[in-house]
Amino acid sequence: MSIHLLKRRIPRGGELLPVIGLGTWQSFDKEPSEELSKVLATFYEGGGKLIDSSPMYGKSEETVGSLIATRRKDFFVATKVWTRGEKQGFAQMEESFRKLQTRKVDLMQIHNLVDWRIHLHTLRMMKEQGRIRYIGVTHYAPSSFGELTLAIRDRAVDFVQLPYSAFTRTAEDGILAEAADRGVAVIVNRPFEEGALLRRLRAKALPTVAAELGCFSWAELLLKFILARPEVTCVIPATSNPVHMREILRAGTGRLPDERERESIAMAARG
Ligand SMILES: NC(=O)c1ccc[n+]([C@@H]2O[C@H](COP(=O)([O-])OP(=O)(O)OC[C@H]3O[C@@H](n4cnc5c(N)ncnc54)[C@H](OP(=O)(O)O)[C@@H]3O)[C@@H](O)[C@H]2O)c1
Repeated sequence: MSIHLLKRRIPRGGELLPVIGLGTWQSFDKEPSEELSKVLATFYEGGGKLIDSSPMYGKSEETVGSLIATRRKDFFVATKVWTRGEKQGFAQMEESFRKLQTRKVDLMQIHNLVDWRIHLHTLRMMKEQGRIRYIGVTHYAPSSFGELTLAIRDRAVDFVQLPYSAFTRTAEDGILAEAADRGVAVIVNRPFEEGALLRRLRAKALPTVAAELGCFSWAELLLKFILARPEVTCVIPATSNPVHMREILRAGTGRLPDERERESIAMAARG
């Protein structure tokens, strides 16, 4: 498969990142397998780079680490710190470096804003020491957007990771604009709402806008809906299925929907 994924610039520094990344919660919380290896190969061959993990995701860091060990440089590795206290934070991040089999993590994020003021101080030092390249903050819930906004006002934060989908559009109310104004890159998590959106839409025919956009699946449509927002740097759907991975990658190619087409997708996804 040879497709050309759209890329967007990370505002701080201007590095280009492919718009489709890979989430690993649940999907990679298992032993390394032929199937997961195929997911990663499909992702890489399709132009993907960013893999998002966390110490919260069970075996995910270790499995990703072992599957990419011989080709670490091919990927943009993102993980998180998810604990309280400076000492515990350091110790957990060292453990993540070990599990991911890497000396340097591309993006270290504060998971669900847990003890974020303390960890931000540590991450600044780690960035100066060259252990991490970018600093991020994340959350899974729109109810966190007030505090997430406070966090991205800190100049040390390069990335914000937040939930946004054709069904849950709270991010449009301000935080996307705030991130853009402050030069903070945006990673969108839960694009399929843990798969629930796709399970609900499975039996439903694709709306006519799908043909206009050259989309063959709901997965593509839901991702294109998100990627059409210029503030979004990349989206990180999770899958443990190489066929699904191919569908996901198609969303990062071709034309993106205009405002009318986005509203048609949102209406069809809600209906
Ligand atoms: N606070 C945080 O930092 C935070 C919070 C939430 C999520 N995240 C990150 O965001 C990532 C994505 O969120 P998520 O894992 O909650 O859910 P998601 O990406 O919204 O949905 C994943 C589900 O969709 C299914 N799926 C994927 N592609 C499909 C396709 N083409 N057709 C049918 N089903 C498909 C997957 O099943 P299959 O395996 O069968 O494809 C899986 O069950 C996470 O993995 C994690 O890395 C971070």
